[in-house]
Amino acid sequence: MHAYAAEDPLFRTLNAIGQRETNGALGDFCVQCHAPLAVRLGLTDDGLNLDEVPSHLQGITCFFCHSVDGVDDDHNNPLTLADDGVLRGGFDDPVPNRFHASKYSPLLDRNDARSSRLCGSCHDIVTPAGVHIERTFLEWRGTLFASEDYVDQNLNCGGCHMKGVDEPVASFGSREYPVRRRHRHTWPGVDVALTDFPQREAQRALVQAELDTALNPQLCVSLDPVGGDATFTVDLENLAAGHSFPSGAAADRRVWVEVIAYQGGQEVYASGKIPDGVAVKQAADPDLWEIRDWHTDDRGQETHFFWEVADVESSLLPGPTARDPADPNWTDTHRIRTYTAEEVSPDRVTLRVLVRPFGLDIFDAIAGEGLDPAVRAAIPTFEVRGAALEWTPSLGRACVR
Ligand code: HEC
Ligand code: HEC
Ligand code: HEC
Ligand code: HEC
Repeated sequence: MHAYAAEDPLFRTLNAIGQRETNGALGDFCVQCHAPLAVRLGLTDDGLNLDEVPSHLQGITCFFCHSVDGVDDDHNNPLTLADDGVLRGGFDDPVPNRFHASKYSPLLDRNDARSSRLCGSCHDIVTPAGVHIERTFLEWRGTLFASEDYVDQNLNCGGCHMKGVDEPVASFGSREYPVRRRHRHTWPGVDVALTDFPQREAQRALVQAELDTALNPQLCVSLDPVGGDATFTVDLENLAAGHSFPSGAAADRRVWVEVIAYQGGQEVYASGKIPDGVAVKQAADPDLWEIRDWHTDDRGQETHFFWEVADVESSLLPGPTARDPADPNWTDTHRIRTYTAEEVSPDRVTLRVLVRPFGLDIFDAIAGEGLDPAVRAAIPTFEVRGAALEWTPSLGRACVR
């Protein structure tokens, strides 16, 4: 997704609205992360002319990451670039080549905890008004993965997000290159290309696979033998993410829980049953459990615009802080909701967790800015397939997991 960061039509539209609404005061705030090389080369200072920037300088490019030689802070892309033309990487014995010089840097070695600072300081946003709206790096630093005890396990950003395969890293002419550990540079998360872009379908499949194992669910059903209320208790735990789930642009994501109960084949209760193409709206579904951030402006109204955010409310599933409940750092990472259905006795209850990379309500609010309706139709709804459960009385117990 790094290559797509400056091409994403949602990014371009939101940046353009921001430039207009702030009379240009937003400046290079957005492009400093979404097209950092173009900014540093002086090719753009507000991201409004990205069409004129050559495509190899858009997005977060190879050269940008592989030239980093310092990290000055922990948010808003404080990365400094070397000006020696030498590309940094994780090998301490790079194969010499005639295209560029190469050398080792711990910042690009995913086995070194310092490499999380390279990724993390871009994956952490504090707005010009001082609100911490994306906190992936902060969250990771609070988990056990960043603790002393885990430092040797390489659970850095790249340790989880850049899986390795053993094959030659380069190919040129007839020369034989050694087999090494080569790392996946696709960075699947939640976002997918919404317009024509190389490897679009392959990226979707990678995102789906990444999401599938992210959560640990439990569903408990309690029925009243004399025909009173039924309750369904859902317990979700963030199993695999080394930070909160969702993380990052968590106010734009829509993650929600669907619970449906049936009796004799008839649906008798539903929450979170939201058809494809329909926006997630709490108002129509008072029981709806949404897992995300909410941004509010200085009047307490929800806003979709970074530059207006005064406060953040959050219901994210936190990452683990310790394995052992006896550890003083241990915190309870289970998040539990109980749903009540009046006077029913269901014989089948289903649980699903759904994820949309971008809220259709936000799309609808900005669609008038010239966004192609095809972009809306391209926003997928993923299911976290490992979180799907079904309860029936034949299980002989109240809880399934
Ligand atoms: C400090 C770096 C940084 C800055 C500044 C920044 N972004 Fe981002 N942006 C990110 C990262 C990192 C992600 C991916 C986060 C994730 O996957 O959750 C992202 C994701 C996005 C996305 C795609 C996710 C989504 O919401 O669908 C959009 C759109 C976006 N940013 C727009 C903007 C706009 C507009 C601005 C300026 C107002 C901006 N960004 C400023 C780092 C930044
Ligand atoms: C222990 C493994 C692990 C570590 C360490 C880890 N992540 Fe993740 N990350 C995941 C998993 C699992 C997901 C959730 C699956 C998904 O979003 O597809 C995820 C999701 C994400 C997303 C998408 C978030 C969203 O909801 O929009 C971003 C961005 C991300 N990680 C960046 C980072 C960065 C930056 C670091 C280091 C500061 C990091 N990750 C550390 C496993 C990890
Ligand atoms: C977001 C930052 C980032 C971007 C963008 C990026 N890389 Fe990397 N790259 C890394 C990191 C981190 C590693 C180190 C993995 C390790 O050795 O631990 C790496 C490793 C490599 C390696 C060594 C082999 C391997 O897989 O470990 C090569 C070669 C490479 N990258 C080339 C590229 C090329 C070519 C591009 C553009 C198409 C690119 N990189 C874009 C961060 C980046
Ligand atoms: C220059 C800033 C920058 C750096 C450095 C950077 N990222 Fe990103 N990253 C972004 C932006 C911006 C996006 C969002 C692109 C989009 O969705 O259009 C992103 C997207 C991602 C995603 C996909 C998120 C999603 O929701 O789909 C993952 C995973 C990720 N980055 C991990 C990493 C890792 C691991 C590293 C370090 C090797 C890293 N990033 C370094 C800015 C950065």
